[in-house]
Amino acid sequence: MKTLIVYFSFSGNNKLLAKDLAKDLKADLLQITEPQKRGMFRIMLDMLFNRFPKINEMNILWNDYQHIVLIAPIWNYIIAHPMKTFIKKNEEYLKNYSFITLCSGRDMQKDKIAAQLKKLACYKSKAILEFETRTFITPEQESKGAYKVTQEDLRKFKKTEAYHQFLETCIVKKEWV
Ligand SMILES: Cc1cc2nc3c(=O)[nH]c(=O)nc-3n(C[C@H](O)[C@H](O)[C@H](O)COP(=O)(O)O)c2cc1C
Repeated sequence: MKTLIVYFSFSGNNKLLAKDLAKDLKADLLQITEPQKRGMFRIMLDMLFNRFPKINEMNILWNDYQHIVLIAPIWNYIIAHPMKTFIKKNEEYLKNYSFITLCSGRDMQKDKIAAQLKKLACYKSKAILEFETRTFITPEQESKGAYKVTQEDLRKFKKTEAYHQFLETCIVKKEWV
């Protein structure tokens, strides 16, 4: 059985990560898309009203997958709202799943993510991983606004112990490259 990666990305970082991991894990890859165009204003409204925005239908053959990896950014401590919608919609199918975010990083954030997943899904996530850009970008890069991750950054993330532990515990070994 295979791994499925489901991702949402607004500015491309989590998309890059999802594509990279899908290659490494030989996983199937699905993107969450929305019927309505998203800009910063909609992100602000979603954050303000804690909304569940509409997402496009996805036909997933859940029985084909042994593990689901969810990948999305964090907005003001909240899992990006289109991903929240996806989790809520599919809560009964998300039995063996993990959540990974490529985010800028904030203190105590992992606990908040865990609390949100607990509320949204029926089952506890097997792992929560935060790939935080604050761990390696310079204050100068940070001051320039949204940081675009590179393939080299991903290599750093994938060397972390947390990632290796995730591979050991959640992903069937034969799927690795
Ligand atoms: C409106 C907004 C709020 C954000 N809030 C957080 C936050 O609370 N914690 C965090 O770690 N990163 C936060 N970020 C940073 C994003 O998670 C980060 O830039 C991410 O890599 C963007 O992913 P994407 O390019 O896949 O959309 C925020 C970004 C935006 C645009």
